[in-house]
Amino acid sequence: MTVTLTGAGAALPERILSNHDFAHLDTSDEWIVQRTGIRERRRLAEDASLAELAALACERALSDAGVTPQDIGHVVVATSTADRISPGMAVEIATLLGIDRPAAFDLSAGCSGFVYALDHAIATIESGRAEHVLVCGAEALSRITDHTDRNTAVLLGDGAGAVVVSKAPGSLRPTFALGSDGTRIELLYVGQDRLMRMRGREIFESAVDAMADHTELVLKQSGLSPDDLDLFIAHQANARIVQAVARRLGVLGDRVFLNVDKVANTSSASIPLALAHAREQQLLSPGAVLGLAAFGAGLSWGAGIITWRAPAAGRGMTGPAADRGGR
Ligand code: UT7
Repeated sequence: MTVTLTGAGAALPERILSNHDFAHLDTSDEWIVQRTGIRERRRLAEDASLAELAALACERALSDAGVTPQDIGHVVVATSTADRISPGMAVEIATLLGIDRPAAFDLSAGCSGFVYALDHAIATIESGRAEHVLVCGAEALSRITDHTDRNTAVLLGDGAGAVVVSKAPGSLRPTFALGSDGTRIELLYVGQDRLMRMRGREIFESAVDAMADHTELVLKQSGLSPDDLDLFIAHQANARIVQAVARRLGVLGDRVFLNVDKVANTSSASIPLALAHAREQQLLSPGAVLGLAAFGAGLSWGAGIITWRAPAAGRGMTGPAADRGGR
């Protein structure tokens, strides 16, 4: 028995902002696309509930996994923009879904939050305390955006993604590596004014180094090579960052997933949104080996290897790893 992802779901606010909607900030579609790959992002209405959007993503993930709310005893939500300071959104999301009195809490680790939450979910299942854990990343970054600052305003989007993490047959044990460095908090933070400040150029290189190094580390710990990854999903902050990490790893072409063009940087919602969009595009087959990597405020980072569901019966692992007889 091991632990796999068994379902994924996404939910985006309806309102779309194109790059042209930021022309008043002395920027251009050309600059934004060339420097980031972003073409549009979603915006949650000011009076809308992020918990409701997140619950929709969770409902879709549960339905994708074929898991009922009664099967869920733990709900973890990664976010830095919850509807209330306290309680976190997990309790409200669980109630909206009809999950009866689960362990439910929010976790704040910047853009790395989802990877931290996933690591926690895996540990909970591996310790025998749950069979299925619901993990959600949800952000309304528009609530903490300085809408007059072109350095950040064009980069950020709102949205929610969720996965179901389950005990499942299979032979590849998930491997995660997490880290942080509090000596560089000032590079990316949200202060008492509740506005995000970022020194993007300085973050760029650290993000590439940390995500590449930690993905290499978890691959090594799993006894895998980059060739064994069926899909690499990194935090979607900037297409150039994702491509630089992928180049360092030697993972190229359609094994590198990108949806930053459609959703921009959604912080802790980024990886679960990407997983759900990869699922919608039928890029996840049973047994697919996924590499995940994130980097953000803290500074914090994390990378992990996990499979999408159990390999189809009698078929062993899919992808290049199958040639090695599974793991
Ligand atoms: O999500 C968690 C972690 N966050 C990240 O990973 C973000 C990391 N950083 C980045 O993605 C990139 O550094 C940015 C997209 C933020 C910036 O791209 P860059 O290629 O690193 O540009 P830069 O910082 O070197 O700035 C180039 C120029 C600057 O002007 P000067 O100083 O060269 O005259 C900026 O003022 O571009 C200017 N600039 C803009 N120009 C037009 C910054 N933002 C904009 C803008 N439109 N929106």
